[in-house]
This record gives sequence, C-alpha cells and structure tokens, in this order.
Amino acid sequence: MELVLLKDNRPDGPETFADYRAAGGFEALQRALREMSPLEVQQVVIDSGLRGRGGAGFPTGKKWSFVPRDLPGPRYLICNSDEMEPGTYKDRVLLERNPWHLVEGLTLAAYVLGVSHAFIFIRRGYETPAVNLRQALAEAERAGFLGENILGSGFSLKIDLHVSAGRYICGEETALMNALEGKRANPRIKPPFPAVKGLWGGPTVVNNVETLSNIPSIVRNGAEWFKGLAATPEAAGNKLFCFSGHVRNTVCAELPLGMTLGEILEGPAGGMLPGRRFKACIPGGASTPFFTPEHLGVPMDFDAVAKAGSRLGTGAVVFFDQDTCMVAATLNLIRFYARESCGWCTPCREGLPFVREVLTRIESGHGEPEDVDILREHVKFLTYSFCPLAPGAMGPVDGLLRHFEEEVREHITRGKCPFRQ
Ligand SMILES: Cc1cc2nc3c(=O)[nH]c(=O)nc-3n(C[C@H](O)[C@H](O)[C@H](O)COP(=O)(O)O)c2cc1C
Ligand code: SF4
Repeated sequence: MELVLLKDNRPDGPETFADYRAAGGFEALQRALREMSPLEVQQVVIDSGLRGRGGAGFPTGKKWSFVPRDLPGPRYLICNSDEMEPGTYKDRVLLERNPWHLVEGLTLAAYVLGVSHAFIFIRRGYETPAVNLRQALAEAERAGFLGENILGSGFSLKIDLHVSAGRYICGEETALMNALEGKRANPRIKPPFPAVKGLWGGPTVVNNVETLSNIPSIVRNGAEWFKGLAATPEAAGNKLFCFSGHVRNTVCAELPLGMTLGEILEGPAGGMLPGRRFKACIPGGASTPFFTPEHLGVPMDFDAVAKAGSRLGTGAVVFFDQDTCMVAATLNLIRFYARESCGWCTPCREGLPFVREVLTRIESGHGEPEDVDILREHVKFLTYSFCPLAPGAMGPVDGLLRHFEEEVREHITRGKCPFRQ
C-alpha cells in the first residue's frame, strides 16, 4: 500500500517547508495555476471519487459544483478543523505531522471556487496544530504560494486561522458559520444550503482537514491513481483511521479504503489486547451504530459500511472486549451528546437527557421492561430534530437495541449490571 498523507513523517516535529517542497509539495498548485482552469481542477476531483472525510462522506467535487458562479459578491471556503467527536483525532495527527497538505489543498480548492478569503476553524485545544499552521501559512506566503497574485497568476488568497470557542456543535457546518460571524453557534435551517447562502450570506463551502489535504496529490497524480489506492474497485483513496479501546495499537493509521474490519483489527490495530476477545466496535466515530463479530468481513468503505447498518463517519474505530457492558458504553456516549446539545430544538434538548436517564437506570439495575420500547421510540423520535446531532447521538442506542437487546434486558431482569461482581 502507498502512504500519502502520513508518508515520511519526521519523528522530531512537523514536516518543514523544505521537506514538503523536496517531496513535490506545491507542484500541484503550480501546475493548476499555470495549466488548468478552475473547472478542470474540479473535474479531476470529481473523477477521483474523493468523498468528504468530515463524517457524511459527501462527494467533494460534486459539493464544489453546487456553488453558483454567477452570483455577485464574495464566496467563502472554510476548513473544518473542529474535531470534537470522541474517538476522532485524525486531523490533529495530520496537522501535528504535516500542515502543508492542508495549506496547498485549501489554496487549490479556493482556486476552483473563486474564493479570495478562506478560514481554518480549529478546535480550541489544538495548540500544536495551530502553531504549525500559523507558521506554514506565513512561510507559504513568503514563498509566494499564498497572498496577493500567487505565482503571478492573478489569483489571490488570504487564509485566516480562527480558534473555536469550544463546543461540539461548532463543528456542524452552519453552526460553525454562525460562530465565525460572532453569533450563538446554533445550526441554521437548510435550505438555503451554504453553497448558495452561507457565511455572511455568500456562497460557502465547508470541507474537512483530511478532505482538503487529499487535493494536492489528486491534482498531481490524477484521478485514476487516487481511485487505485483503495482496496476495492468500489472505493477511492486512502483514509485516516483512529483506533482506540481494547486493541494493542491505539494509533492513527492511513489505510486503503475497503480493507475489511477484520483485516484492520488483526493488522494495523494489532489485534485485541492479550486475553481479550472482540465483542463490538464503533466503526466510524461516536455517532455510528455498533458492529459485532458478524461484521468483521465488512469492507471499511462508505457504501459497504452503510449497507451493513452503520456509517464509516470519520473513521474512528473504538474496539470493545468481551467484558465491556454495552449499556455502560452507550451511556457514556449519550452523556457526551446530552451535554453538547446546543438546546435549540426540543427533541434534542429534552430527549437526550431523558435517554441518558433511562440508560442510567437500566445500567444501575433499576430499569423496567418497558424501557426497551421507550428507547426504541426515541431512536425514531429524535430524527425529528433541527440538525444531525440528535439522530447521530441515537446511532449507538440504535446499535445497542439491534445487537445487544438481550444484554439490555438482562440488566433489567437481574436488577444489576451482569458485568459487575
Ligand atoms: C454535531 C456535528 C459536529 C460536526 N463536527 C465536525 C468536525 O469537527 N469536523 C468536520 O470536518 N466535520 C464535522 N461535522 C460535519 C460538518 O457539518 C460538515 O459536513 C463537514 O465539515 C464537511 O466536510 P467534508 O465534506 O469535507 O466531509 C459535524 C457535523 C455535526 C452534525
Ligand atoms: S439537534 Fe440538538 S444540537 Fe442540533 S439544533 Fe437541535 S438542539 Fe441543537
């Protein structure tokens, strides 16, 4: 397999400008500005099959193509580096090791979209990535790859780094735009979609760090090369996966999309810890329904994971061993979501704390048999919310009921958690 984003990382700090240039960095930008029109660059990205790495997996080039080119006034591009979902730390690793892919990728995307002012919206605690980015932006500008009249092409770009005030909802693209505008960070109603009316009312694209970081190598090596990186013909490219939980290697790894869950567990994740057996995992970040041993053969790709009843999401895989109480694991996640609800709409503001209470009483042995149906109703009911936070929060509850209903009922009939002595 060929590494792209995590290739040749230095052990002692981030890749330098000289390292990146020596490895062909900024060649894609030079080529695009000299030889390609914005629409030609966009077409390469469409053909590559790149899908957004921020969670939803929406095709990137298609998203860009929704931006109207004939509206007057400025357009905006925002790099989403908020990354507050439990278990997800890939953008941090990427920016700690190499901020250059993002700087070049953001510049190429801005060229495609005709944007002259872009933002990087970064999580408050990401101090090293922010330092690396500030330095990289300044160096890129000094070298003529950013700022006024880049490489004499007539294209100019200013990139501002904005540090988030620090809530999970700020990662939702419309809440993020409100936050950037200095308003309360609650999501906006769609339509209008950001591509038409976003930041300060202008057409806006929001893309994830990993998504944008893939653009330079796609432009440099072509769409077919990118597609060919994947392990299956249905998938395209590599993906950063973050492992945590009861496995030997709790690391961020760059892997071809389409490797099976079992191959990932036994290979890069290093297998379960000694003496532990695989019971379940969250396959794609905290909002995705559990997978179990029956899913070890599922290719870890957007469509295949969805077909198997979950989501690839951000690629954060949390592994659980045979002694994990799945009610407690779900409760832990729901506590996070109930706390992070922005409170804007009733189903989420009232529903998530209620679900947390139901799970708390089941876990502590005080549940009633009807609690199972109450939870099931809430999995449906919380889809009627203003933004995807609430339905996402219910992903693990949905997985709990689909794969571990017996374990939930055992808590109720025994009047205690079966995993506690
Ligand atoms: C509650 C919530 C939090 C989110 N947090 C992030 C985040 O931290 N980073 C991110 O890239 N996308 C996040 N997203 C998804 C963004 O709304 C958006 O879809 C994404 O940034 C688009 O980038 P992509 O097309 O490159 O995937 C979040 C979505 C929701 C609903
Ligand atoms: S679903 Fe939750 S986070 Fe989203 S708008 Fe409603 S209250 Fe806010």
